[in-house]
Amino acid sequence: METRKKPKKAHAADAVTRPDEVMRATGWMVRFGSKQVLNGIDLVVNRNKVLALIGPSGCGKTTFLRSLNRLLELAPTAQHEGTIVLDDEDIYDADQDLNVLRRRVGMVFQQPNPFPMSIFDNVAFAIREQARRRPRPAAIAPRVEEVLRRAGLWDEVKDNLSRSAQSLSGGQQQRLCIARTLAADPEVILMDEPCSALDPRSTARIEETIRELRSDVSVVIVTHNMQQARRVSDQTGFFLNGDLVEYGDTERVFTAPTSKETADYVAGAFG
Ligand SMILES: Nc1ncnc2c1ncn2[C@@H]1O[C@H](COP(=O)(O)OP(=O)(O)OP(=O)(O)O)[C@@H](O)[C@H]1O
Ligand SMILES: [Mg+2]
Repeated sequence: METRKKPKKAHAADAVTRPDEVMRATGWMVRFGSKQVLNGIDLVVNRNKVLALIGPSGCGKTTFLRSLNRLLELAPTAQHEGTIVLDDEDIYDADQDLNVLRRRVGMVFQQPNPFPMSIFDNVAFAIREQARRRPRPAAIAPRVEEVLRRAGLWDEVKDNLSRSAQSLSGGQQQRLCIARTLAADPEVILMDEPCSALDPRSTARIEETIRELRSDVSVVIVTHNMQQARRVSDQTGFFLNGDLVEYGDTERVFTAPTSKETADYVAGAFG
């Protein structure tokens, strides 16, 4: 029996997502102790699009990203104000089930972190863990193949799925972690500098995967690589000192930014 109460719908008219939006932050403010690091962010994550978050070190990108699936709360001093909705539900509502939320809004970290087990078991583990009912053993292998295909890794590993995941290259490990996240059927995947530990070739392969994922999930990616933001994203948000200084279609942000700070940053003047 499902006893969980459904989280409340957000009340404020401006906090309600439209059909083409999957998440919306309104007046999102974060403080660590007495230090305010986000100053009231209004930002939309569009459905089936890739949103890049850029900005100099320490401006609050990771803090914002971690706000989107409540990983923020792992920091004991974190306080927040404002609203974040996912499909009209207030994700900070007291009735929100965190496990459900983090399945719907998955996270891929900077350092690939496969479990010390085989490629197959890494993905199968995630599938079993995320399933509401225990899946039949025969249902697992096809699902492993499906998510490895979506993560763009299948062709490279299909001949030896029992190999240790930790023997894969860094780029392959990162795609395995994307596959593990996909096993939960997320609506949104958050990625915090997912390519910073990878060589250019592996990076290009991950970028291809990100572009393909758009057909059924939305992606929010933090990156320090301007070319990468431009290549993979549909929208870009530029953060500076806790403010969202610029937000819009990526080509527009890079070619005709409205603020001087954005123009300087994308031109490589600071950061
Ligand atoms: N758990 C925490 N406790 C206290 N302060 C924190 C915590 N996490 C982040 N901060 C502070 O919040 C500010 C924003 O940090 P954040 O990690 O969001 O920046 P960022 O834009 O992701 O930077 P980078 O590009 O270096 O990853 C920084 O001043 C940081 O020191
Ligand atoms: Mg960061």
